[in-house]
Amino acid sequence: MKRRIFLSSIATVALLGSALAPALAQGLPPLEQKDRYKVGFAQTESNNPWRIAETKSFQDVAGSCNWDLVYTDAAGSAAKQVSDVESMIAQGVDAIFLAPREEKPLVPAVMRAKAAGIPVFLVDRSVDPAVAKAGQDYVTFLGSDFVDQGKRAAEWLIENFKGDKGVIIELEGTTGSSPANDRKKGFDERIAQDDRFEIVASQSGDFARDAGRQVTETLLQAHPDMNVIYAHNDEMAIGAIQALEVAGKKPGEDVTIVSIDGTRDALQAIIDGKMGVTVESSPFFGPLACDTLKRYAAGEEIEPWVKVEDRIFTKENAAEHIDEAY
Ligand code: AHR
Repeated sequence: MKRRIFLSSIATVALLGSALAPALAQGLPPLEQKDRYKVGFAQTESNNPWRIAETKSFQDVAGSCNWDLVYTDAAGSAAKQVSDVESMIAQGVDAIFLAPREEKPLVPAVMRAKAAGIPVFLVDRSVDPAVAKAGQDYVTFLGSDFVDQGKRAAEWLIENFKGDKGVIIELEGTTGSSPANDRKKGFDERIAQDDRFEIVASQSGDFARDAGRQVTETLLQAHPDMNVIYAHNDEMAIGAIQALEVAGKKPGEDVTIVSIDGTRDALQAIIDGKMGVTVESSPFFGPLACDTLKRYAAGEEIEPWVKVEDRIFTKENAAEHIDEAY
């Protein structure tokens, strides 16, 4: 395994006086400027359109950005994702883009890559901020504001809900993942400010369609009076629609559905009147990853959060955007 010599003293930084200096000053592994990079992309799973679109975005950009892409799929296992990163370190990649499945279990992978002198860029999800820090343990987090996404879903509901009492079932994403934690926080805090609403159950559907369907089936029996579903992603929302239809309820009429992502199926469900809103969470990280890596190699000090701005899709604009959806 190629081990890098990790220089850290201020004196060395001064001596270098080059593009590598800002990275070293922050305690991060530097990245030399080269025509071609060997870049790892550690994906968390491939069981939904969002993940497939994200992977494709990385594969598409690899050619134009002169990357030899080393791609791994952790198949929904945080333990496998840790060993995927270890394998990238052993293969001597120049940099790693990591989409951490969960916040805590992936911290050791970040630390091992740093110790091996390989800069890590977190993409779409983050790790535990109490333990690992941007600009110190990893270069930056490229992604959306998940708290804001949850808040915007709640605000749409507050503005558009027609009934007197909103009885909400919340379908949470993967337990321990940053989007599940933050989307819950953003939505729950905002909805608590309007006494028309009550969240009667909140359970994980693991960001998956079938799990979303099964959890909805079970929760429907315990809460037959529910009339709102907040899903942390579109796949679970689509699963919930299937469960509601089997139970003889009309999604969009009997039950208001709010969600996050912006997949093709969700936009179609909005057009069909079955879903109210989906707050965008873009999976198209390839070009942003290419640009951020170039800036880092050029010696720029990278901001700790390269924020992605998200749109909102409702019946007003879903038809206009469905052709660009995934
Ligand atoms: O981390 C982003 C989330 O992960 C997306 O909303 C979801 O669909 C995916 O699995």
